[in-house]
Amino acid sequence: MLKQRTLTIETVGKIGETVTLFGWVHGRRNMGKLVFFDLRDASGLLQIVGVPAELIDDAARTALDSLRPEFVVSVTGVVQARGAKQQKPDEPTGMVELLAKNVAVLNESKTPPFEIDNEERQAGEELRLKYRYLDLRHERMARNMRLRDRVVTFFRDYMHAHGFVEIETPILMKGTPEGSREYIVPSRLHAGDFYVLPQSPQQFKQLLMVAGFEKYFQIARCFRDEDQRGDRQPEFTQLDFEMSFVEAEDIYAYTEAMMIELVRSVAPEKKITQIPFPRMTYAEAMEKYGNDKPDIRVDKNDPNELGFAWVVDFPMFEMDEEGRIAAKHHPFCAVHPDDEKLLDTEPMKVRANAYDLVMNGFELSSGSIRIHRRDQQKKIFDILKISAEEQELRFGHMLEAFEFGAPPHGGFAPGIDRLVMLLAGEPNIREVIAFPKTGDARDPMMNAPSTVSQRALDEAHIAIKK
Ligand code: AMO
Repeated sequence: MLKQRTLTIETVGKIGETVTLFGWVHGRRNMGKLVFFDLRDASGLLQIVGVPAELIDDAARTALDSLRPEFVVSVTGVVQARGAKQQKPDEPTGMVELLAKNVAVLNESKTPPFEIDNEERQAGEELRLKYRYLDLRHERMARNMRLRDRVVTFFRDYMHAHGFVEIETPILMKGTPEGSREYIVPSRLHAGDFYVLPQSPQQFKQLLMVAGFEKYFQIARCFRDEDQRGDRQPEFTQLDFEMSFVEAEDIYAYTEAMMIELVRSVAPEKKITQIPFPRMTYAEAMEKYGNDKPDIRVDKNDPNELGFAWVVDFPMFEMDEEGRIAAKHHPFCAVHPDDEKLLDTEPMKVRANAYDLVMNGFELSSGSIRIHRRDQQKKIFDILKISAEEQELRFGHMLEAFEFGAPPHGGFAPGIDRLVMLLAGEPNIREVIAFPKTGDARDPMMNAPSTVSQRALDEAHIAIKK
């Protein structure tokens, strides 16, 4: 640090003291001889009063004169109480200001492509994402990132306090059949072969149960090459977890207590519509609400209401767009105990031991009790019309693992982006992801995706179809 540094927020309670602050010029107003501006640092804003006669020398006066929005500066001055007309009791530093004695410009800034000190005049998505590092200077965006950090920290602490172990699983893997298109990564060392990026750590977390960890979690990055919507991004983050020797009721109880505690600790101003969270079957939700993510809030206009609900007993199978039988959640879900007898005769009537947690009309999380026996897993693959050869090729490792003492197990995976979006009252998960993609899956800042050199293509054994 160049000098002993004080943060803007720390000036509260330092009236009369001389301090040095570092940060950015956040708007600037000339009032005759006076220059007023807010200094922004990671802790917030502080009003700076620049009076030429108070400054120590001409260099400081020239610096004060040259200030433009987003210049990086250091300001040394005396903290003083604001005059009665200037007081803003609702703002963290609204009762104090700094009378500048010395000002130095550490770096200049071009005029930003949009205003940082005016959240109302928000630029279009393309511009915001091209200059995301400036967009993140907006107070609202910085607040969202910090909320996200608190949510993730809460989950990590909560999981550890309940005996879970955090384990990282591979990003380069073989496909997971979870219904979405996968991103593929060519292998240099194995010409013509590809890794895929995980849609979720589903298979690995089940294999960690076979390995005997019993309680696993991960703040897991997932990748899905699907069409974008406001609540979907090509890469997103789950609180992925799995437990052994549990039933669905154990997952409900654990998750519900965790969500209530999360809201209490990171967003105490929010209130939950109903505790215990109401529970309905998939069939009931479809009949009563016409969809499987019911919004149960009493007042949908209340920004502080959170309507959690459980939807249980999802169907095991559905018909896909091409009229083929497919797994509704994924093929590793255990069958509802009452429906096993229907598997051979009426598979479309079979319910899975699968559940969702929904909030305010969004699907927040999905999970299930899993199959842990080879014969049962094979039977599901057979019903899905996956040939014996393909079963071996794609899922041989799962089928084999189930023959080495796989315990009964189940899990869940709340989507962190959706959860933070709803806690922040944002309409889109892009607002709670630091560097998201556009609606058509581009990054306008880095300009991804982009072409690579011929040499990189050659090494990856790839020829581009014209
Ligand atoms: P599922 O596919 O339902 O289940 O995903 C679980 C949760 O992840 C979030 N989510 C997304 N968030 C942002 N963008 C996306 N494209 C996106 N896709 C999903 C949602 C969703 O509820 N392996 C299983 C979980 C399990 O069975 O334990 C799975 O991934 O909040």
